Amino acid sequence: MTGALRTAAAAGTLRVGDLTVNRLGFGAMRVAGPDIWGDPKDRPAMRKLLVRAFELGHNFFDTADSYGPNVSETIIAEALHPYPAGLVIGTKGGLVRPSRHRWDEDGRPEHLRRALDGSLKRLRLERIDLYQFHAPDTRVPFADSMGTLAEAQRAGKIRHLGVSNVTVKQLEEARRIACIVSVQNEYNIENRSDDPVLAACEKAGIAFIPWFPLGAGRALRSAKVKRVATRLNATPAQVSLAWLLARSPVMLPIPGTNSLAHLEENAAAAALTLSPSDLATLA
Ligand SMILES: NC(=O)c1ccc[n+]([C@@H]2O[C@H](COP(=O)([O-])OP(=O)(O)OC[C@H]3O[C@@H](n4cnc5c(N)ncnc54)[C@H](OP(=O)(O)O)[C@@H]3O)[C@@H](O)[C@H]2O)c1
Repeated sequence: MTGALRTAAAAGTLRVGDLTVNRLGFGAMRVAGPDIWGDPKDRPAMRKLLVRAFELGHNFFDTADSYGPNVSETIIAEALHPYPAGLVIGTKGGLVRPSRHRWDEDGRPEHLRRALDGSLKRLRLERIDLYQFHAPDTRVPFADSMGTLAEAQRAGKIRHLGVSNVTVKQLEEARRIACIVSVQNEYNIENRSDDPVLAACEKAGIAFIPWFPLGAGRALRSAKVKRVATRLNATPAQVSLAWLLARSPVMLPIPGTNSLAHLEENAAAAALTLSPSDLATLA
């Protein structure tokens, strides 16, 4: 698998509301600086990486206002605006960064309205294709946060709504308030604790977007992943992504990298097929 130029299109497609994307997306969090704080060391290289990601068939990009903060969205617009046909950008709001290592929830309606307007401005859009509520805020009724976003959708600022870091119960509540097209939760071969949320997405026919699809690198150290990778002449990252793609038809992984070599390697995972015996090893 290494070296061959294969694109994310080989993963097949998935519907996100009325939009169709290749089932292997790109997580654009790491185009911001170290610790996802401030500017990257080499901004032109990050612009190039984003352009290359689209060329490699990743036509769903995931970002958030809190990445930088504000850096990832800004670089996406610098690299790709005016956006090529077919590119779907999903962003998120509801977390704030008071300092380098803090990611605080802020689900207050006034914050969400401001955050959405900021994302629209940075992404140079009049409407965001997928706006995801980043994380429930325990200090604010979930219904108030979701209701605010549903109102913004009715006002035309959001095409589709998604949620992130939710339980099955919160997903059900969100779906009573608005039409939800996706859930973004942590999930990878080493951490399957959100299997019930994935099952709820399958039942509802909505996209499940696993964050940390490579376990932020940890999944690559798993002995069974390494064993299958050796057997298939693939890399542990490719096996981890192929496992996710095989796990469910609603799975839309968003691996993140700031390395061109890893980007190409990850895109090629879309063409990797795991046999029943590979899947049994990884079970
Ligand atoms: N909703 C949420 O709360 C939430 C939270 C976290 C992340 N996210 C989203 O999920 C996306 C993915 O998360 P993530 O980037 O943190 O984790 P990830 O995709 O699981 O792993 C990324 C890490 O793996 C390394 N990596 C990537 N490809 C590799 C390869 N082929 N070989 C070896 N190492 C490789 C990267 O390093 P290199 O840069 O060196 O390749 C990086 O350290 C983010 O971009 C973001 O959009 C959402």
